[in-house]
Amino acid sequence: MPTGPTPQSANGHLDSRRFRQVLGRFATGVVAITALDSHDGRPCGLAANSFTSVSLDPPLVAFCVAHTSTSWPRVRGARVVTVNVLAEHQQEVCAQMASRGGDKFAGLEWTGSPGGNPVLEGALAWLDCVVEAEHPAGDHNIVVARVLQLDTHADGGPLVFFQGGYGGFR
Ligand SMILES: Cc1cc2nc3c(=O)[nH]c(=O)nc-3n(C[C@H](O)[C@H](O)[C@H](O)COP(=O)(O)O)c2cc1C
Repeated sequence: MPTGPTPQSANGHLDSRRFRQVLGRFATGVVAITALDSHDGRPCGLAANSFTSVSLDPPLVAFCVAHTSTSWPRVRGARVVTVNVLAEHQQEVCAQMASRGGDKFAGLEWTGSPGGNPVLEGALAWLDCVVEAEHPAGDHNIVVARVLQLDTHADGGPLVFFQGGYGGFR
């Protein structure tokens, strides 16, 4: 019998710290998912590293949103949601988009996407999408979205998230 590291702690439950520690070794990019609140027209959004492309035909992307997110219901309420691919120099933007409460867009420059949503200055690319499906998955929902329009934006390297910290791509 091979012996190796066990994913379970003594009480039989997967240890959440270990889960984060191990999954943190999977490097990701980071996106800001933005929209205009359908009630007050103000920009809203959240940072996410769970973004991935899914399908070319039809063009689908996906990301996971925690049930605890207070911004997602606002973003979700808009007709179009916009994925902004963050650049290496946008660590502060990421922190702002990941904050809770307050005006997440204070001091941020942005222009409107074709769908009318914030495209953050300095973002590498943007995708205007409509939500096609939300699949419950534990304490998150897996959101599948159809891409309506997309384009590259600013040039630069990607913001990379790895082991709880930020870096770039060399
Ligand atoms: C690097 C990074 C990646 C994140 N990825 C996700 C994610 O994939 N899904 C998610 O629901 N929240 C993610 N978050 C947390 C959200 O950005 C945000 O903190 C959370 O939604 C709370 O804010 P809200 O209540 O305004 O939504 C991430 C935060 C950071 C800093």
